[in-house]
Amino acid sequence: MERKLRDRGSWSSKFGFIMAAAGSAIGLGNIWRFPYLTGQNGGAAFVLVYLLCVFLIGFPVMLNEFAVGRYTRKNPVGALKALNPTGYWKWVGGLGVLTGFVILSYYSVVAGWTVGYLMKILTGALSQWTTTEVVANSFGHFIASPLNSVGYLALFILLTMAVVVGGVKGGIERWCKILMPILLGLLILLVVRSVTLPGSGKGLLFYLKPDFSVISGKTVLMALGQAFFSLSLGMGAMMTYGSYISKEDNLVTSGFWVCLGDTLIAVLAGLALFPAVFAFGLQPEAGPKLIFIVLPAVFSKIPAGTGVGALFFLLLAIAALTSTVSLLEVVTAYLVDDKGWPRHKAVFSVGFLSILFGSLSALSQGAVKGLGALPLFNKPFLDLMDMIFGNYSLSFGAFRLVVFVGWKWGIKKAVEELKMGNPEFPYFGVWAFLIRFVCPLAVAFVLMGMAFGWI
Ligand code: TRP
Repeated sequence: MERKLRDRGSWSSKFGFIMAAAGSAIGLGNIWRFPYLTGQNGGAAFVLVYLLCVFLIGFPVMLNEFAVGRYTRKNPVGALKALNPTGYWKWVGGLGVLTGFVILSYYSVVAGWTVGYLMKILTGALSQWTTTEVVANSFGHFIASPLNSVGYLALFILLTMAVVVGGVKGGIERWCKILMPILLGLLILLVVRSVTLPGSGKGLLFYLKPDFSVISGKTVLMALGQAFFSLSLGMGAMMTYGSYISKEDNLVTSGFWVCLGDTLIAVLAGLALFPAVFAFGLQPEAGPKLIFIVLPAVFSKIPAGTGVGALFFLLLAIAALTSTVSLLEVVTAYLVDDKGWPRHKAVFSVGFLSILFGSLSALSQGAVKGLGALPLFNKPFLDLMDMIFGNYSLSFGAFRLVVFVGWKWGIKKAVEELKMGNPEFPYFGVWAFLIRFVCPLAVAFVLMGMAFGWI
């Protein structure tokens, strides 16, 4: 057992683990997806509902994944196989690995755009993008270019591979420990810049003063879905990271710090964005293109905009990298543990395949017509992948894992696992209640909402 543990690798410290898990959680989900959803769903009220979802549902579900991961010391497939060798539950893990692969492929496309933007800023091209219309046009051209979109996708996946091939301690942990604190520092800088712009007050009100009349069922459903995506739950990423934690470490406080850090970054991202959006009279409802279209125009109008813009997209690329690392790590861990592949072989094969598969998403944004509006779904390939794997599959995965732990494998064993490293924590009863009743019901609600088209 000891030897096996050493072979798989483990975190060198609790701090290293928290940074790696926070690195997985913090990404495009916080800085790109959270602000645009907030903008579309009425501002401060959405933020409030989101916070409730993170701490009432996301946090317990995260502990659930940590407990299964550390107990089994395995990737999602191996873990479920170990706990339930004959049953069909191992497919929960299998779906997680597949989901990780697909999310990696399209997430890296968007991540590639951030690198492309960074390059444009550094080469001075972006300074000619003056009005929002010009920016929108240029952005459209940029993502429709096959060379740009596939090139930056490949570049981003290669960067991810470079980190993951180094292994758990040498690669993932070392990078996250350095990059995460830098990210926080850069973001605080941007917030200070944004809230001191003249006319930023309206943005602050929109973002911080809740108007409860805008809360609807849809708001709640969107907020819960976003909580899963943002915290990297539902596909075994946190389970895999949990499998590298020492038995002495405190899972509850680690999980709490990760949730808090993830939320802090999302909230700061909104605080960096909305005051600026309002200060320049732009629309908070701009949707997925919010940061890519609105921000360059914003940057071009403020003093030292080039510098601020470069910082912002650098920070976004860093955040995305520490997330793609976790996605690649899940698939890698599966091939290393269950198929006995050497780590570098797993990393290279999966990386290469995800460049190929991701190209379909990259080319769906204007380069190839057929991929831009798929016959049956009338959506671009990338959007379809995000809907199926980023929404349905994650919620489905989280649902089945809470049901499995709460009702099949055993809530008692999970509590025992959580107690290691934290025997005095008084609220395990509350946690068990949340896992058995509150979480499955809430997630079932989201799934049904998606199935019946409420979302
Ligand atoms: N949570 C990351 C973000 O907010 C994305 C991500 C990384 C993810 N790993 C994941 C999402 C696993 C779901 C599952 O950007």
